[in-house]
Amino acid sequence: MSETRRISDQVIADYQGKAADYFAKFENTTTVYFNFFIDRIAPPPASVLDIGSGSGKDAAVFAQRGYDVVAIEPAESLRFLAQKKHLYPNITWLDDRLPYLENIKTQDILFDHIHINSVLFHLPLSETRRVLETCYGLLKDKGTLFITLRLGPPDPARPMFPVDKAHVTTMSSELFILINAEHIADDLRPNIVWDHLLLQKLDLTS
Ligand SMILES: C[S@@+](CC[C@H](N)C(=O)[O-])C[C@H]1O[C@@H](n2cnc3c(N)ncnc32)[C@H](O)[C@@H]1O
Repeated sequence: MSETRRISDQVIADYQGKAADYFAKFENTTTVYFNFFIDRIAPPPASVLDIGSGSGKDAAVFAQRGYDVVAIEPAESLRFLAQKKHLYPNITWLDDRLPYLENIKTQDILFDHIHINSVLFHLPLSETRRVLETCYGLLKDKGTLFITLRLGPPDPARPMFPVDKAHVTTMSSELFILINAEHIADDLRPNIVWDHLLLQKLDLTS
């Protein structure tokens, strides 16, 4: 088993084992960051891939706005709770995981927008390029990618890595261009700040 797979199993087991607690926590978290990107991405009924969708709260916001959503969540019990709560016909729920997303890749779908909220820090920094290549391959031309990065002390409950804006920008070379960024404080925890990044797929043929 690869080191990434071992770490990922550990991360997902934590979300799986405490699914009800995490579900309640995520459902009570603000989605104010939609204001940062929503006017810069393709309008509904464009397609969105929400990776690491947790309680499904972001998938639900996209669905309410008329987007066609695929929500990927590898922790089965969290995915079941999300599916039960957010009964939108325009959300498809799927088991898959970064960095490869092997299940969704077999479906030959390309998306207008990919959403990775509060997930990337669960992967070793050595996987960032692979994650970005996976997203590149799943996006339509000029598709957009929203990534949030948690900066601050790691939570001892599950593995976390110090991925930051400079690292993502460097790893995006020749795949994405950074079109907007913001750096904001966590609304509840004084020791945590967030980078919000909006990237756009580069057209390598031009
Ligand atoms: C902090 S939660 C964020 C949930 C949701 N995106 C949100 O912002 O409310 C991280 C989520 O990523 C999922 N996750 C962890 N490792 C993953 C991986 N390798 N690929 C996809 N999702 C992963 C977890 O199961 C969990 O639901």
